[in-house]
Amino acid sequence: MDTCPANLALAAADTFGTSLRDDVLAGLAAVPRALPAKWFYDEQGSELFEAICATPEYYVTRTELAILREHLDAIASALPAGAVLIEPGSGAGTKTRLLIEACLPCAYVAIDISRSMLEIGAAGTARRFPSLQVLALHADYTRLDTLPDDRLPPGAPRVLYFPGSTIGNFTPEETRAFLCRVARWIGPGGSVLIGVDTRKDAAVLEAAYDDRQGVTARFNLNLLARLNAELGCTFDLSRFRHHARYDAQAGRVEMHLESLIDQQVEVAGVVHAFRRGETIHTESSYKYTPDGFRALAASGGYACRSTWTDAQGAFAIYHLMPDAAMAESRTDGSR
Ligand code: AVJ
Repeated sequence: MDTCPANLALAAADTFGTSLRDDVLAGLAAVPRALPAKWFYDEQGSELFEAICATPEYYVTRTELAILREHLDAIASALPAGAVLIEPGSGAGTKTRLLIEACLPCAYVAIDISRSMLEIGAAGTARRFPSLQVLALHADYTRLDTLPDDRLPPGAPRVLYFPGSTIGNFTPEETRAFLCRVARWIGPGGSVLIGVDTRKDAAVLEAAYDDRQGVTARFNLNLLARLNAELGCTFDLSRFRHHARYDAQAGRVEMHLESLIDQQVEVAGVVHAFRRGETIHTESSYKYTPDGFRALAASGGYACRSTWTDAQGAFAIYHLMPDAAMAESRTDGSR
């Protein structure tokens, strides 16, 4: 980063106990093989994700943005003024900027696993909103227990913003556990604004995760390129193919990388044999009916205050409030 804007602060949380290498060694030894989706997002992966959002088939991002634009006034009036806005997996931030303009938070906390993506995004937001206090927190938010309360304005209500259906990468169990942890980040008086993809026709979902231009395939295969570059693995990308399928029973799209032949690959010093047709499960994207998601949130200790959707019901934004008892343990005790 060239010059750091005056309203931008950087912090790091010690959440990297499970490194890429540990996750890959464990994930490829498991049956069936699986890798955590959070490792997609190196610089190339983040760029490819942006490109996915521009494909005609991937309706997710543009639908959420349309809902946000259409209901921005209602959403802004549902949120407290002068809040601390907290965004895990902060990404590129078009939606976030709209939200900041409309709901005027006093501070913005961006949390991301990729340090370069975090710094670029947070610096852009800090420059765009010179009177907004911006904290860029380098952390794996799936392992973050508490926020650095000493770096945040005391007493301000907190709003967690979690757009993009990123929550869909968690299983329903993990979603409930994450929402419980988030209740401690935000405390009583806090709330959660979350974007979640809805269940729909398998053909629409499978096209969204297997676009005709092959951008999603490149995004998936880039994970292997990353492992080659960062861990010295010997994956031949031409010997694997991208595969996406919707499991309607489980309500999730699964992405896999399928071995095209019997082959051996060296992974961090260990040789792995792949049979033809064998796969590495690289991502699950869970989809929820609005009733299903509200019930899951309720089981995690939240009441749903409002739901906003598009005319087709292709995507939904929920405003959730923690049941008082769940959130009492906010660490700075200021509310
Ligand atoms: C960023 C996790 C929400 O699951 O839809 C897009 C990632 N994967 N296409 C999703 C993704 C394949 C995306 N999330």
